[in-house]
Amino acid sequence: MASSPAPSDHHTQLLPSTPRTTRSSRSNKHEAPPPYQQREVLPDISSQRAPYGQYQLNLYTESLLTGQKPVVTCDPNKLEEQAKAVMEHKGFEYVLGGAGEQSTVTANRKAFSQWRLVPRMLKGHVGRRDMSVKLFGRTYDSPILMAPIGVQKAYHASGENATASACADLGVPFIYSTASSTTLEEIVSEVFAPPRPSTPPTPAPPQSPASAAQPIPIPLPPREKHLWFQLYWPLDDDITASLLSRARVAGCEVLVVTLDTPSLSWRPLDLDNGFLPFAVGEGNALGFSDPVVQKRFADRFTFGGDEPPTIEDNTVAASRFWAGEVFSGYAHKWEDLGTLRRLWGEERPIVLKGILSVEDAKMAVEYGVNGIIVSNHGGRQLDGAVPALEVLPEIVDSVGEKITVMFDSGIRTGADVLKALALGAKAVLVGRPVIYGLGIAGYEGARHVLAGLLADVDQSMGLVGVRDVAGLNRSLLRRINYG
Ligand code: FNR
Repeated sequence: MASSPAPSDHHTQLLPSTPRTTRSSRSNKHEAPPPYQQREVLPDISSQRAPYGQYQLNLYTESLLTGQKPVVTCDPNKLEEQAKAVMEHKGFEYVLGGAGEQSTVTANRKAFSQWRLVPRMLKGHVGRRDMSVKLFGRTYDSPILMAPIGVQKAYHASGENATASACADLGVPFIYSTASSTTLEEIVSEVFAPPRPSTPPTPAPPQSPASAAQPIPIPLPPREKHLWFQLYWPLDDDITASLLSRARVAGCEVLVVTLDTPSLSWRPLDLDNGFLPFAVGEGNALGFSDPVVQKRFADRFTFGGDEPPTIEDNTVAASRFWAGEVFSGYAHKWEDLGTLRRLWGEERPIVLKGILSVEDAKMAVEYGVNGIIVSNHGGRQLDGAVPALEVLPEIVDSVGEKITVMFDSGIRTGADVLKALALGAKAVLVGRPVIYGLGIAGYEGARHVLAGLLADVDQSMGLVGVRDVAGLNRSLLRRINYG
């Protein structure tokens, strides 16, 4: 049965203001049929649009009025190519690359093509769609989060500040990576500390002709800013305690603990390029600015001087020390989660990232974490690992009622977001596409890719026939094997 439209629908405004006379009730065959009632006032469709979907209209309007095209392509299939033409080679390949023969990177995309959406018609949903989701008791404007991505200054000089600003503008939680090239405190003061900056961060010097192009200013309404913290779990509990205490002070809402990276995988592109940012001090901003890391370094190392060394005295040695803490090769055990719970706080959400099996998902429940991210790190860690989307449904079925299941690895379009949510994810993380946007045009580029994805989700929800995220379920999906 069709659901009745909500009072705010402009559906109601399109109806005739008096009831139409039915054929059988007309007594006189010469009587002119009642005129089809015209709307007295055209509905203001722009005010009915969901704000995220509005971005699509903004892009058309700018293009029609000023002839300006977006500085970053709207075509998900051309994004990589555009980034390649613009970005510094090693940085681009660092983002692009996966582990081994990249079989998991490829499989992540294939897994999406095996699910197809079955749209429903005449649902009577007109007007604003509700993309909001509730995670850990807090309402977020959309189901999209920015994946933790390290070393962002290697992709564009404006680095994490630019991406975080783009996220803050759009109400998308920015997940700060342990491997960031900007300190947490700098991001907080530049982006998250009140009052909200009215202008985007100072643009970095142009890196290429594309990033020098004048971006299109496309206003979207300001939204609430959200910051989460991703942890590569150090060996030393005192260092962990210090990082988590900084994350709490910074106002991070959720702790994301990445489990799939006890060490770096075999990454052929980076090996061929000789690119290992962490070895030369890039992506170590959090560690190098940490007082406990600094003290440990000073206590353990001597380089022949009278004074204890500082990190600046020998960044290569300091890099090795820090990498040994966070990529030590040592995988922590389930029982160790108690330490994180104690250090982070009983009431604060902890999420485990990198879960790919039902067994581990159940362990996460048993050990009292609040959520998991079904992820294979975008195919960058274990080559040959199962596509994250493949295992999402069985993990949702086994623990989805008990903890919050989120998803990443392969999201490129609005339809991808819908598929993951329909399979039961409560939210999704987007990674590479936004970073390509960053690499192409800094803040404007990252913001354009995110705003475009949000608009695509909004429009796709309308096209599939749902008005809110709760309406996305498996009845909208069909599995198709393309071989
Ligand atoms: C990552 N990812 C990642 N994850 C994490 O927990 N901490 C990190 O520092 C990083 N760094 C990082 C750098 C780069 C260049 C990439 C591409 C990815 C993994 C990331 O959070 C996410 O799981 C993947 O990006 C998802 O894959 P797609 O959808 O981007 O292909």
